[in-house]
Amino acid sequence: AFNLKNRHFLTLREFTPREISFLLKLSADLKTAKYAGTEVPQLQGKDIALIFEKNSTRTRVGFEVAAFDQGARVTYLGPTGTHIGHKESVKDTARVLGRVYDAIEYRGFGQAVVEELAQYAGVPVYNGLTNEFHPTQILADFLTMQENVEKPLRDVAFVFIGDAANNMGDSLLIGGAKMGMDVRLCAPKACWPSEAIQKEAQTIATGTGARIMITEDIDAAVKGVDFVYTDVWVSMGEPKEKWAERIKLLQPYQVNAALMEKTGNPRARFMHCLPAFHNTETTVGKEMQAEFGIDAMEVTDDVFESPASIVFDQAENRMHTIKAVLVATLGS
Ligand code: CP
Ligand code: NVA
Repeated sequence: AFNLKNRHFLTLREFTPREISFLLKLSADLKTAKYAGTEVPQLQGKDIALIFEKNSTRTRVGFEVAAFDQGARVTYLGPTGTHIGHKESVKDTARVLGRVYDAIEYRGFGQAVVEELAQYAGVPVYNGLTNEFHPTQILADFLTMQENVEKPLRDVAFVFIGDAANNMGDSLLIGGAKMGMDVRLCAPKACWPSEAIQKEAQTIATGTGARIMITEDIDAAVKGVDFVYTDVWVSMGEPKEKWAERIKLLQPYQVNAALMEKTGNPRARFMHCLPAFHNTETTVGKEMQAEFGIDAMEVTDDVFESPASIVFDQAENRMHTIKAVLVATLGS
């Protein structure tokens, strides 16, 4: 049996492949139980602090509903209204919250901040996204992949295409390597993960049998994959001035019908962690297209809205997988 009680959840690299498989199985079981109306609350009386220094829709509602379903209570601490980082250090905040709460979620900028919280809080700390890693997203993505193919994860091939030098590129690379998958990152060299992360993934792959390809060659990268995954070209916290340069660099890597065709797999699915730019229905989307034209976005609307798109399954699975992390680390 697995005992993940009191563990932090910071990058995925601190979990073994078997522990990750266990969390995925627990997620699936919790999802089935919720659908069947047979969920057993295991977090009664627990209090969880949710720190968000950046905005969120999915991660916040994932943590909140997961906690409520399990009988826990949450406090949302948003980008304004607390002393965190302005008047009180991370180290002091960690020790204060650790006295009041049973666990802490943190979304913010540097990975070092969530690591420091974990070091001093004395209770489990969960990474709800930093510039470097988005580990709870990866659990949701792997659960969604499992639901969409009839083979084990180690036989699954996926490509992450676009800006691979961000939290999603790093996390999918490490996660895919851990699970022994066929992992491809496709991006212009300027948007590859750091040398250190690449090396780390290769080392993990030696032990797990993962196949890793990091390339600028789109045709080679997408050939035969089960899943085509992309993310925004400019992440939260990056300046708007990056748009012009990134769009120019990444336009050839846009996920459109022609690119999906290039997989040669009519059953290939489209994935995105969301939020996505695929139309002009948001203020930012409007602004982007007005300034840079129709191909300024990482995915075209026809692919996003196609039957191949499983992005809302991913979004729902954020909640079930976050619940598994809470239950495994805090449950009775
Ligand atoms: N995918 C994801 O983390 O979404 P939010 O930013 O809405 O939490
Ligand atoms: N790379 C994106 C992911 C959002 C879930 C960002 O950091 O903004």
